[in-house]
Amino acid sequence: MGLELEYIEGQTPIDEDEKEGLRIKTISTRGELDEFEQKNIEQALTWTIRKKIPIEEILSENFILEVHRQMFDVVWTWAGTIRKTDKNIGVDKFQISMELRKVLDDCKYWIDLNTFPPDEIAIRFKHRLVKTHIFPNGNGRHSRLGADILVSHGFNRPVFSWGNASLSKKGESRKKYLEAIYQADKGIYEPLVEFARL
Ligand SMILES: Nc1ncnc2c1ncn2[C@@H]1O[C@H](COP(=O)(O)OP(=O)(O)OP(=O)(O)O)[C@@H](O)[C@H]1O
Ligand SMILES: [Mg+2]
Repeated sequence: MGLELEYIEGQTPIDEDEKEGLRIKTISTRGELDEFEQKNIEQALTWTIRKKIPIEEILSENFILEVHRQMFDVVWTWAGTIRKTDKNIGVDKFQISMELRKVLDDCKYWIDLNTFPPDEIAIRFKHRLVKTHIFPNGNGRHSRLGADILVSHGFNRPVFSWGNASLSKKGESRKKYLEAIYQADKGIYEPLVEFARL
């Protein structure tokens, strides 16, 4: 037995040793995994709205890791811990901590100097997080929640709609989302900013 997963475009495959970190041994399909992860993420959402979170706290390594832990700790033992294997996307595993510090510093700088409008700062932050690919998995969902926390707690704006659809499944919305991500890879952020407010 074990976990046999299928992957769609833009998903990061989970290593065999990372699969061993599955806490719920009865999960054997992608559908079951998605369901348990989704429930866990809903608990994390409740956690994020319990009290106002100051920007300085949001933009700390501790908090960024804690968000992932809250989202995936019921399902994965490695929730909230920095990845120990290299992936097809993301920085070298030994560079993650340093790169994360850079992302957090850059974001503080954008806020202090009003370099970009608030939505764009949150979206750039999201894109830098997912490009770093801090964790073995869940980086897309983590980066989107990270942007939602920054934009709502930090900038007093509504959370993003992210195309008003489930992005974890194949379909038109995910296609549009990935196209916008690829534009952001080239330094063009408008499509992703716009998509996030659809
Ligand atoms: N070329 C790319 N540039 C930037 N980000 C990318 C690229 N390709 C994929 N991504 C991001 O990586 C995410 C996939 O990483 P991972 O599997 O760790 O996250 P996930 O939360 O499990 O997946 P998903 O968000 O797809 O449900 C995608 O959601 C997308 O946001
Ligand atoms: Mg994934």
